[in-house]
Amino acid sequence: MTTITTPLPGGTGKLGDLAVSRFGYGAMQLAGPWVMGPPADRDAAIAVLREAVELGITHIDTSDAYGPRITNSIIREALHPYPKSLHIVTKVGANRDAQGGWPTARRPEDLRRQVQENLQALGLERLDLVNLRLGNADGPVPGPITESFEALVELQKEGLVQHLGVSNATAEQVAEAITIAPIVCVQNMYNLAFRHDDELIDMLAREGIAYVPFFPLGGFSPLQSDALSAIASRLDATPMSVALAWLLQRSPNILLIPGTSSAAHLRENAAGAGLSLSTGDVAELDKIGR
Ligand SMILES: NC(=O)c1ccc[n+]([C@@H]2O[C@H](COP(=O)([O-])OP(=O)(O)OC[C@H]3O[C@@H](n4cnc5c(N)ncnc54)[C@H](OP(=O)(O)O)[C@@H]3O)[C@@H](O)[C@H]2O)c1
Repeated sequence: MTTITTPLPGGTGKLGDLAVSRFGYGAMQLAGPWVMGPPADRDAAIAVLREAVELGITHIDTSDAYGPRITNSIIREALHPYPKSLHIVTKVGANRDAQGGWPTARRPEDLRRQVQENLQALGLERLDLVNLRLGNADGPVPGPITESFEALVELQKEGLVQHLGVSNATAEQVAEAITIAPIVCVQNMYNLAFRHDDELIDMLAREGIAYVPFFPLGGFSPLQSDALSAIASRLDATPMSVALAWLLQRSPNILLIPGTSSAAHLRENAAGAGLSLSTGDVAELDKIGR
């Protein structure tokens, strides 16, 4: 693994043999409202991505379903040719419909098409890491994943994909994937107030597999909790900073991909995630999600 040094809070983490800043960036908010269509200000979206790289972020999460095709085109315009240290992670397994829904698309031919679309949109010959997105917009749905995951393994063997992961997955689906091929990350919903994956995170940490929480700030409705606000105000920090710092301190295999369409929020989050929480603060924060 190439080592990198980063000025960002949390230091360096790993996605398999790829070294990344533990403070990464989730690009979903760069598309239009509800992740459909173009953003109101494309130049501002480009500026956010360039700011991310300038801050030292080397892990950007995306999907060609964002927009659809909008977010990847903005990433390409902002950052191509990409710095060698930058790792763009994408996901496949869903299409978009005209109403903004996320219909499942996980047949082998769907996955091949989506990998090819991501390669083309991002201007890459190989994707660093592709997550198989499971479940639906309401969360994970139990059921076998072998046919879909094997299809991605085939694309990996063809050299189109370097590493694999799963997203929106149950613990059983994570286990199923691992019996088929190595995975380097699990990307599931998790934050201070939503802690269904506590056991899974600890198991993945023991296996050296990254856990990448999506909606780290609560997603479309950012986290709101009187207890969080009280602790934040006592620490003279924002609730968002406390939520990110708590995640970084929760487990060393956690990699952050907070989303924002604002360069000011990006800078604020990158600085705030470095907040040092005492054992007492963490114990109090732990009560929010339990
Ligand atoms: N695998 C999956 O199925 C899946 C699903 C959802 C998301 N994801 C990934 O996870 C990433 C993160 O999720 P997310 O972006 O939806 O949610 P998030 O990171 O939990 O929160 C983003 C929201 O927080 C706001 N925000 C960010 N910083 C803020 C600050 N300092 N002060 C106030 N508000 C702030 C943003 O608004 P502003 O734009 O105004 O800052 C945005 O509304 C996505 O970008 C995507 O890459 C994956």
